[in-house]
Amino acid sequence: MSTKQTTTTFKLFIFITASLLCLGLLLFNWTAPISNAARSNLLTNGTFDSDTSSWWLVTGNGAAASMSIINQELCVDITSAGVNTWDVIIGQSNVPLVASQLYTVDFTASTDMPRWFITKGGLAVSPYTGYFHAQEYLQSSDYQHSHQFFADTTDASSKFEFHIGGQTGQTCFDNVSLSAIAPTAAPTAVPTLTPTAVPAPVGTQVDLVKNGRFDDSLTHWRNSVGGNGDASVSIAAEELTYTIAAEGDNTWSLILLQKYLPLTQGFSYTVSFDARANADRWVNLKVGQATSPYASYGSNTILVTTSAQTFTHTFTMNHASDNCVNLEFHLGARGTGSITFDNIKLETDTAAVPPPSSYVGQTAALTGYPLRWHGQQTNVDVGAAVSTAPFHCDDTYRQTLAREYDIITAEGVMKFGPLHPAADLYDFGEADNMMEFAEQHNMDVHGHVLVWHSSLPDWVENGSFTRQEMIDVLYDHIDTVLGRYAGKIKVWDVVNEAIDDTTYGLRSTPWLNNIGTDYIDLAFQRARQADPSTLLVYNDYGISGLGAKSNAVYNLVADMVGRGIPIDGVGFQMHLWLLSPPDPADMAANMARYDALGIDVYITELDISIEMPVTYSDLVNQATLYKLVLQTCLEAPNCHHVTTWGFTDAHSWIPGFFPGRDEGLPFDTSYGAKPAYHALIETFNQGSAPLTAVPDTTDIVLNWPGGTASCTYQLYRTTQPHQAPVAGNLHHTWTSGPATFRDSNAATAGSIYFYKLQTTVCPQAPALSNEIGAVTFAVVPGS
Ligand code: XIL
Repeated sequence: MSTKQTTTTFKLFIFITASLLCLGLLLFNWTAPISNAARSNLLTNGTFDSDTSSWWLVTGNGAAASMSIINQELCVDITSAGVNTWDVIIGQSNVPLVASQLYTVDFTASTDMPRWFITKGGLAVSPYTGYFHAQEYLQSSDYQHSHQFFADTTDASSKFEFHIGGQTGQTCFDNVSLSAIAPTAAPTAVPTLTPTAVPAPVGTQVDLVKNGRFDDSLTHWRNSVGGNGDASVSIAAEELTYTIAAEGDNTWSLILLQKYLPLTQGFSYTVSFDARANADRWVNLKVGQATSPYASYGSNTILVTTSAQTFTHTFTMNHASDNCVNLEFHLGARGTGSITFDNIKLETDTAAVPPPSSYVGQTAALTGYPLRWHGQQTNVDVGAAVSTAPFHCDDTYRQTLAREYDIITAEGVMKFGPLHPAADLYDFGEADNMMEFAEQHNMDVHGHVLVWHSSLPDWVENGSFTRQEMIDVLYDHIDTVLGRYAGKIKVWDVVNEAIDDTTYGLRSTPWLNNIGTDYIDLAFQRARQADPSTLLVYNDYGISGLGAKSNAVYNLVADMVGRGIPIDGVGFQMHLWLLSPPDPADMAANMARYDALGIDVYITELDISIEMPVTYSDLVNQATLYKLVLQTCLEAPNCHHVTTWGFTDAHSWIPGFFPGRDEGLPFDTSYGAKPAYHALIETFNQGSAPLTAVPDTTDIVLNWPGGTASCTYQLYRTTQPHQAPVAGNLHHTWTSGPATFRDSNAATAGSIYFYKLQTTVCPQAPALSNEIGAVTFAVVPGS
């Protein structure tokens, strides 16, 4: 065959093939018209109307599963779970992804039981590289998924996968699509980013973002840096500039965010902001769930250019209402540089904003007077440390806090790092929120903490300072923070944990190392000057009893007092462990020696952790220890303050910091009052007129000198100590008699009962007695 012939034959072959292909396409279009939505779908047969073709199933690690079409859905039956989610994978290959293109993944799913699963796109060949990834918790039968991602890589043969292993059962998918989204509409150019006066409300729109205009501070905004990223935030000309020194591994390695925004299901929201960058730059805007697993409620990927532009993005909240939403700009993995923001808003109709909850009211499970009331009767402040997320997101947390406590300490947000993230930037957002809450609920605030080696921002921790420069840092911080809250914070922890655990000398910290041993004096002197009305405390752990560290702190404080350095109190943190309780006599002796110096004792961070798993008798022992600590404080003339580090086991630092230990607080994870709570109340009630019990072989005679003849009495009887005085435990009620009662129902010899007596209608204030336990005598056979 000549060359010419070969070419002609080849051309003919091409023609026939192309014609057949066109005919095929025409026929395909004719026989199965596809909807507009499906037109851009890169996946084949995502509607599973007839078969599973083009979807494959792989299993590993002993997993066994099969695919079938049920009701025009793709169902996977897993009969043997394997170990990991990736031990059962269904997917498609050869999905063509193009770099710098925005995609959306949509599908519906249902399952026979709640399960985790992962949607992934990635490199088809080893080493597997993920192009997108979303981890989700599938609970319902009509789960709808929609998530967007921005492809960084071009790959004509990517994989699309669902990882569903690790649990047996059936999961079904339908309407799976992966589609390219048309590029974001070109942003409208605005002349400059010059700030304007406070914008007039636009129609009925309200703005959920706080301080989006950056008029003087960073307040309410956070810079989250991870994954080898490095970036800082600065405010200039009333704009926020985000400067990226290292881009980080992923877009989410650098995030500028605001937390705790309330979104309501079904309402529509508009995010708008002005931005410009030093060079063209893609930015991922996300509005989503604050906690893991991250779910996006509304997101967009936007090209910010060197000229200032206004961007808007509108979305509908298609998820359950969420009071704790993050607004995030993901700025990593797109090179170094800078980007400037202004006028960031998240707007919705006024009607969409949930009415503010009223935080007054009773915690359902509790009756009687709360801790704070009892504290007020005995001149003791009863406090709790407050953790930010539940403070915003959990109404029961706020209600319980407001009802029970009369002073709060910020668990984190008044520490140096959160308050003063950069040399010339302060962020008072969260601290202000707590101050406002305290004011609303007639509470005091315990400031924590001005000078500490921990929770320092990088610029202090790793900065290099002369002595004078470090003193300036210290003074600026104290002046600014105490100045802002002057007259409003009852007591401040000025210096925390300055004593070293091995040498009992001063701990090596940036403060000691840059300033020298007088940094403690300087801090207390400056604090007194900055707010003369606040009480100044030195705070430390492991110092409530007697011992080397306790002595070191005592000597430090005594020395300060001797030299006239202003100090009012010493804080015993008291993070106790049930297995090594303190000696109450040592505690009392320690409190007494501070009293001799004229120094008050503050119990600042009390919790009593228990080895897991916890039994009821552990909880009773814990209650006894709580009682003992409070009792020791009540008996000391210089102890008027007991704060627990948190108040509910639902939000406690203990499990994170002491693995294997937990349940250290007076409320359980459902905000039920634990024996420890009742023990505290009982201790407060155990005044000069305690309820007493005199048992014999069958009866128990109770007597309460605190009662008067004209009262109504309610006697509560339980078989376990430290129970709530609730209707179910009410044993006997009588009126207008003496506060004495013979309990002849305690008939069986050897019965153990615990009693509390409550007066309800009296000329004087209603009162609850202490708890008294009594055992009827056992009858000795033959006696
Ligand atoms: C702890 C907080 O509870 C944690 O959430 C945080 O991550 C680290 O700090 N002594 C103190 C407190 O003075 O500030 C510490 O608080 C607990 C030990």
